Parts: sequence; C-alpha cells; structure tokens
Amino acid sequence: MFSATDFIPQPYSHSIEKGSFQWSAPSNIALVKYWGKKEDQIPANPSVSFTLNNCKTITKLAFAKKQNQDVFSFDLLFEGKSKEDFKPKIQKFLERIESYLPFLKEYHFTIDTQNTFPHSSGIASSASGMAALAMNLMSLEKALSRNLGTEMTEDYFYQKASFLARLGSGSACRSVKGKVVVWGNQENIKGSSDLFGVEFPNAIHENFKNYQDTILLVDKGEKQVSSSVGHDLMHNHPFAERRFAQAHENLDKLITVFESGNLNEFITIVESEALTLHAMMMTSIPYFILMKPNTLQIINAIWKFRNETKIPVCFTLDAGANVHVLYPESVKEKVIQFIKAELVGYCQNGQYICDEIGRGSVEIL
Ligand code: PMV
Repeated sequence: MFSATDFIPQPYSHSIEKGSFQWSAPSNIALVKYWGKKEDQIPANPSVSFTLNNCKTITKLAFAKKQNQDVFSFDLLFEGKSKEDFKPKIQKFLERIESYLPFLKEYHFTIDTQNTFPHSSGIASSASGMAALAMNLMSLEKALSRNLGTEMTEDYFYQKASFLARLGSGSACRSVKGKVVVWGNQENIKGSSDLFGVEFPNAIHENFKNYQDTILLVDKGEKQVSSSVGHDLMHNHPFAERRFAQAHENLDKLITVFESGNLNEFITIVESEALTLHAMMMTSIPYFILMKPNTLQIINAIWKFRNETKIPVCFTLDAGANVHVLYPESVKEKVIQFIKAELVGYCQNGQYICDEIGRGSVEIL
C-alpha cells in the first residue's frame, strides 16, 4: 500500500540552472463519477474514465534558478497572454505539493499553456491543465534526481505525476497515463489507489477500442456552481453514503462489462451514473441544476434514436450542461449523421467536438 510520504523525495544531488520542458495532457470523461471528497483530495468513492485524445492542454514550463528562495515565483501565460486570474489556483497547487517537490521555491517558472479546445467551451480544462503542469514538474524532478545512482522508474514517474495532478484537481489524476483509468481504492481492481490514477489492469473487449466521444456544447457559459462547492455539498448530503456504495457497485459491474463487451449493460451503468451525479446536485442543500433545457432535449433524442435503430449510443454528463455522446467506432458514421441531423440544433452556435479514447500525456520534445 502506498502512502503520501512515499512521494517525498531524497535530497537531490544534481543541480540545474535553467531549462524547459513541454507536455500535452488530455481531458478525460468519467463513466463512474467522482463526486464528494475527504481531506487532501481523497475521493469519497472510486471513479473510472476514458482518456480523451483531441481535447488537451499543451504546457511549456521554463525554469531558472532565482536568488530569493522564500517564496514561489511564476508567470502564467494562457494562449500567449498573461493570465492573472488563473494564478491563485496555481499558487495553491504549488503550496499543496511543496513537500513532495522541495525544489519549487528555488526557481522562477514561466508556465505557458494553451488548450486545443475552444476557450470557455464549458469543457473543464482543470483536469488537462493540472495534469500537463504535473508532468512538466516531474520531468524537472527526474532531471534533478538523475545522479542519485538509482534512475527514477517509469512507474514512479507516472504514479507521482498522477499523485501531484490529483492535488491540483481530483479528476486530473486520471489524465496522466492509460486509455481507461481508475482512481480510488476498489477491492477488485489490482493496484487501485485513492492517491493516484492507475491504468485499468483487466481485460477490455474490442467493442471499446477507439470508443468515440462527441461533445455537444450546449452551454459555454461559466458554471453557476463550481465542482469544489459541489464536492463539499456531499458532506451531510442525505444520500451520500448510499451513493458512495453505489459507485463501488457500478465499478465492479463495469469490470465485467469491459471484459464481455456487453454494450447494453455499459449504457445502463453510464447513463445511470450521469443522472445520479446530477441527482446529487439537485438533492443537496443548497440544491442546484446544471443541466439546461437543451441537455434534456438531447437526452430524449438519443433515447428515441437508440430505441428506433438499436444503435448502442449513449450519453454522459460532467458537472455542466454539455452532453458527451459515447458510441463504438463501428457505428461512427451513422451516429455522426444523427448528431448533424438532430442534435446540432441544440448546441450553442451549433458547436460540437469529435473526440475518442486516447492514451494519455505526451512529452513534446
Ligand atoms: O476534478 P474536479 O474536482 O473538477 O471534479 C470533477 C467531477 C466530475 O467531472 C463531475 C466527475 C469526474 O469524475 O470527473
């Protein structure tokens, strides 16, 4: 069993004056949802997600040794322009991870970041953004440790990157490595941990190969309720304990479904998880609704289409109004046709993004 102290490094023997790294990290879409957490970003229940391929953040981290080593120092550029309003989140992240990366105050950092998906599309960029930053910081740690005699293992590199990303934004720990990623302790999933995401270790049926996710942008505005407030509302929530138990049950069912390729079962679990997530929002105090009328129009249209055609297409939702339409690659053409004919009208400015399962973060050399 891992504990957080396993990620506190030995003193570094190597010193580096300046340099830079660059990584891309993808967004991910949860099938079993993380909603509710304990101290230190420990999830109240395990979750599992598909890693996306096209929606990603690309971050270059430049670093240079500085004189004053008492404070964190960094500039933040978003799409080439200084972005002051992102800085408090990064400052908090650096504070949280300092004991695991003791070199942070020795450097001035320039964090230069951009997303491949449209700004304020309502797609959460915190998962891909925090993962991309964590990957860069791990590259620096790896370089600083390279003279220690024992080379940092790939497992440790990715586990610690995921561990750090989790401290930035919980779901970010599922954006580091692997196509299907589990985060949170689950008895029947070997290696699963509350501390970091792990690649789903069991068999995955061909049906899920290149699984498609078309993201329908229903509402691109700022969310009225942030996910951190939402997680908090699961404390003293009347249905919390039952919900957390249900997430474990659904994850166990998915283990079987991933192996058998049973898409009907898959659809039932995934849609139920999406609606349960939003039901938790609607039954907290204060209660809130993040779905919009068009979210419901799309859900109903998907149900009608699935009933009539028997094509195994389903939806999931994250903490917002957008709809992720999930389907196997084999029915791609028919589903895209359906989306264009019947769903695009419900999207803001007709916008949607075609994505599919991807493999995780990539270093850009
Ligand atoms: O990582 P956070 O704190 O933004 O929470 C994400 C929560 C959901 O997207 C709603 C569910 C999930 O598991 O990704």
